[in-house]
Amino acid sequence: MAYLARFWDSTIGKKSAEAMHDYATLLRTSMPVLWGARIALIGAVVLHAVAALQLTQRSNAARPQAYAKKAPQVTTFAAKTIRYGGVLLLAFIVFHILHMTLGVVAAPGFVHLDPYNNVRQGLANPLVAGFYLLAMAALGLHLYHGTWAVFRTLGVARPSPTPLKRRLAVALAAIVVLGFAAIPLGALAGAFTEQPSPVTAEGH
Ligand code: HEM
Repeated sequence: MAYLARFWDSTIGKKSAEAMHDYATLLRTSMPVLWGARIALIGAVVLHAVAALQLTQRSNAARPQAYAKKAPQVTTFAAKTIRYGGVLLLAFIVFHILHMTLGVVAAPGFVHLDPYNNVRQGLANPLVAGFYLLAMAALGLHLYHGTWAVFRTLGVARPSPTPLKRRLAVALAAIVVLGFAAIPLGALAGAFTEQPSPVTAEGH
């Protein structure tokens, strides 16, 4: 037990800050790779948003009048809120880049290439950590509905009262969301202790 406690302390302490610094540096070893990834991601987000907008317009044009009878419909909360969640996620991505990459919004003491302390200080504000958690909830619903819809569109899962595609969609959304949400939850619980910045320690 004592060994485990020591291991935990050492990893979540100085080594986390260093490991995150090394990882951030690694991501920047090749500018063409970094910018290639950034451009591909921005392109994917823009195409996704444009396709969603066109789909909404097409759906509205196909049925300009609302249905008289709304309930009961076979649908889910995730399906009904997919568009609001999408707008929230877009706002989150813009905020997230200003917050964690550029350090220009709600980022006290921001130091480039010190993601450990940037996350620690950036998520110390409960309102900011709360916004991250809200965005992760939207991400979970989005991933759940998206994964399920992909299986349906491709027709790869057979009809069933307990479809495999639903269970896969729940599993994928849960793994991603719990993994991301652990960070703002950890910050709210005070799990991030102040660590010397590997950047200033190296004399950058
Ligand atoms: C909630 C937990 C999250 C934390 C604590 C977190 C933390 C960070 C940090 C510290 C950076 C800056 C890294 C650096 O400059 O070296 C970063 C960058 C980034 N994050 Fe997150 N992130 C989280 C969730 C997400 C989610 C859910 C997405 C996607 C929707 C995302 C997308 C990105 C992208 C695309 C970048 C890179 C931006 C760039 O420099 O080009 N992050 N994140």
